[in-house]
Amino acid sequence: MASKVRTLEDLFIDLLKDLYSAENQLVKALPKMAKNAQASDLQKAFQDHLKQTEKQAARIERIFSDLEGSPRGKKCVGMEGLVEEGNEIIKEAADPDALDAGLIAAAQKVEHYEIASYGTARAWAQHLGYQEAARLLQETLEEESLANELLTRIAESHVNMEAR
Ligand SMILES: [Fe+2]
Repeated sequence: MASKVRTLEDLFIDLLKDLYSAENQLVKALPKMAKNAQASDLQKAFQDHLKQTEKQAARIERIFSDLEGSPRGKKCVGMEGLVEEGNEIIKEAADPDALDAGLIAAAQKVEHYEIASYGTARAWAQHLGYQEAARLLQETLEEESLANELLTRIAESHVNMEAR
């Protein structure tokens, strides 16, 4: 049963638990996305982001080791929906270019969702005086932004190739 959120501290803890669940769901989803990606640069981007995602989950564990409690016990339904959208694209895609374009779109939704959540989490950490947590969340936020930019570059390079 969900406990009542009372303070900014409670919101912060809940958001971190949500992000921990999101990262762990993504650790399970990324191998399937890599397997289904047709272009080798997209495959590599998903494989690299898998390693990064494992580190990001570990960062949240580190933040919790300084706070009271455990990062477990919450399911991020936002990420559950985004992963499901990615699965639908894999199921429904007919031609390889469309599949990659669809996978990139799904992955960029994931990155934007994470960027929004980590941006908030970092701001709340600063407000609450958790400097080390804020620093760790900023690190992840930068990685998510770079991952998003890489996906844009891959999408654009493929579009350009097709236009030739
Ligand atoms: Fe992440």
